[in-house]
Amino acid sequence: MTRVAIIGAGPCGLAQLHAFVSDKTVDGTATPELVCYEKQSDWGGLWNYTWRTGLDQHGEPCHGSMYRYLWSNGPKECLEFADYTFEEHFGTPIGSFPPREVLYDYIIGRAKRSGIRRFIRFNHVVRSVSRSAQSGRFVVCVHDHETETTSTEEFDYVVVASGHFSTPNMPHYPGYETYGGTLIHAHDFRDAAQFADQNVMIIGSSYSAEDIASQCWKYGARSVTCSSRSGPMGFDWPDGITEKPILSHVDGRTVHFVDGSSAEIDAIISCTGYLHHFPYMDDSLRLVTTNRLATSMLYRGVVFQPDNAVMYLGMQDQWYTFNMFDVQAWYARDVILGRIDLPSAPEQARWIEKQQAIEDGIEDDYGLIDYQGVYTQDLLEQSDYPTFSTAQVSAMFKDWKKHKKQSIIGYRDNGHTSPITGTVAPVHHTAWVDALDDSLESFLATGS
Ligand SMILES: Cc1cc2nc3c(=O)[nH]c(=O)nc-3n(C[C@H](O)[C@H](O)[C@H](O)COP(=O)(O)OP(=O)(O)OC[C@H]3O[C@@H](n4cnc5c(N)ncnc54)[C@H](O)[C@@H]3O)c2cc1C
Ligand SMILES: NC(=O)c1ccc[n+]([C@@H]2O[C@H](COP(=O)([O-])OP(=O)(O)OC[C@H]3O[C@@H](n4cnc5c(N)ncnc54)[C@H](OP(=O)(O)O)[C@@H]3O)[C@@H](O)[C@H]2O)c1
Repeated sequence: MTRVAIIGAGPCGLAQLHAFVSDKTVDGTATPELVCYEKQSDWGGLWNYTWRTGLDQHGEPCHGSMYRYLWSNGPKECLEFADYTFEEHFGTPIGSFPPREVLYDYIIGRAKRSGIRRFIRFNHVVRSVSRSAQSGRFVVCVHDHETETTSTEEFDYVVVASGHFSTPNMPHYPGYETYGGTLIHAHDFRDAAQFADQNVMIIGSSYSAEDIASQCWKYGARSVTCSSRSGPMGFDWPDGITEKPILSHVDGRTVHFVDGSSAEIDAIISCTGYLHHFPYMDDSLRLVTTNRLATSMLYRGVVFQPDNAVMYLGMQDQWYTFNMFDVQAWYARDVILGRIDLPSAPEQARWIEKQQAIEDGIEDDYGLIDYQGVYTQDLLEQSDYPTFSTAQVSAMFKDWKKHKKQSIIGYRDNGHTSPITGTVAPVHHTAWVDALDDSLESFLATGS
C-alpha cells in the first residue's frame, strides 16, 4: 500500500489532505494511506494564533508569527478557495479584509466539511526524514508529545507543508549587545498595544514592516520610525510614522542611521523576514532557496527535483496564497497517484532555471503578480481543481496595490469582487483605522 506522510496541518497540509479526499478514487486510509504530522495541538498553522513566543509548552520552537489585531493584508477574494466560497461558509457577503480569526474560521470550515481531521496526529513533531538504504522508502522519525515517545515509520512519498515564515532572519547591527530598549523580531511581536506611548523603530520595508508600523501607530505608539536598506516604502504615512535609511549602529537607546541622523528609540522590531528552515530533512532532501516566486530545486514549484517522491508546498514568496496552495496540492496529489508524467531530471532543472530567469527579468511588482498568476494558471490547467480566473485575481492584486499607494491606512476599507461568485464585498461597517476590536463577532456584526 502506498503511504504518504504530510508534514504540517497549516493551510498547505490541509489543502493536501483535502485534495486527496476530494478525489473519488481515494479514501485516505487504504488508497493511499495518509498520515499528517502536526507539531501543534491544533490545526490552521500560522492562523492558529498563539500568545506564546520563544519555545512552546513542549520546548519546541514556537511556530506562530501572527499577532493580535492581524487583518488580512490582501483582499480575501484573491485567496478564496474555488470549491468553498466565503459566502457559502458565512452565509452572507462579508468585507474584503477579514481579521485573523475570521480567516481561520473559513480555513477550518472547509477542513471540517471534508472530514480530514482523522488523518492528523497532533502534538507530533517530525524530527528527521531520510531514505532507507534497505527499503528505499522514506524513514520518518517523529516525537509524540502526548506520550513523550519517539518512533519511526516508512512512507513512499513525503509532502513538506511546514511553512517558511516561522524561523526569523535576525540581522545584527553594532551596539545591539548593549541596547537598553526592547529588541525583538516580528516573529515574537504579539500585541501592538504593548508599544503605546513608546518610540518604536521598525527595520525592513516589506509586509511585516508596513503592517506592524501601522499597527503600532493605530494602537498608540508615540512615534514609529521605519528604517530600510533598500529604499523607503514610500507610502503616504500619517503623522507619527516617518522613514529613514538603514541604521548604522546603536548607542544606548540612540539609533544612528547611515545618513548621519539619529533618534531615541524605546523598542526595535526587526521585520527582516524569515529563513526557509527544514532541519528535519536529510541533507539530500532539503530544499535550499531564498524567498522568491521561482523557488530553486522545485519542478513546477512543487516537486523536489533531486528526488521526485518529495513535494514541497507553499514555498514561494506569496502574492497568491490559499488558492495557489490548493492547485499545488492537487498537482502533488496527481503526481503521487501516477497521473502526471514528470520529465527527466535535466528537463526539470531546465524548467527551474528558465522560471528563475523569467522572474529575474521582471522589473516591478505588477509583473511579479502576473508571473505568479500565470504560474498558478499553469498548474490549474493540469488537474481537476475547480477553475477560477487568475486574470481576475491578478487584476485585483494590482488594484489593491494602487489602493495601498493611495492610503496605507485606508486600503482595507475597499470592497473587491469574488472571482468565484461575482459578489462585490460590502465595505466593512467600521473603517480599519477605527476598528480596534478584531474579533469574529465584531467583524461579522452588521451596522456600526
Ligand atoms: C505574520 C504573517 C501574516 C500573514 N498574513 C497573511 C494574510 O493576511 N493573507 C495570506 O493569504 N497569507 C498571509 N500570510 C502567509 C502565510 O504564509 C499563509 O497564509 C499560510 O499560513 C501558509 O501556510 P503553510 O501551511 O505553508 O504554513 P504554516 O501556516 O506556517 O503551517 C505550517 C504547519 O507546519 C507545522 N510544522 C512545522 N514544523 C513541523 C514539524 N517539524 N513537524 C510537524 N509539524 C510541523 C506547524 O506547526 C504549522 O502548523 C502571513 C504570514 C505571516 C508570517
Ligand atoms: N496580514 C498581514 O497584515 C501581514 C502582516 C505581516 C506579514 N504578512 C505576511 O508575512 C510574510 C512575510 O513578510 P515579511 O515582511 O515578514 O518578510 P519579507 O517579505 O521576506 O521581507 C523581509 C524584509 O526584511 C528586509 N531585510 C532582510 N534582511 C535585512 C537586513 N539584513 N537588514 C535590513 N533589512 C533586511 C528585506 O529588505 P530587502 O528588500 O532590502 O531585502 C525586506 O524588506 C508575507 O507573506 C506577508 O504577506 C502579512
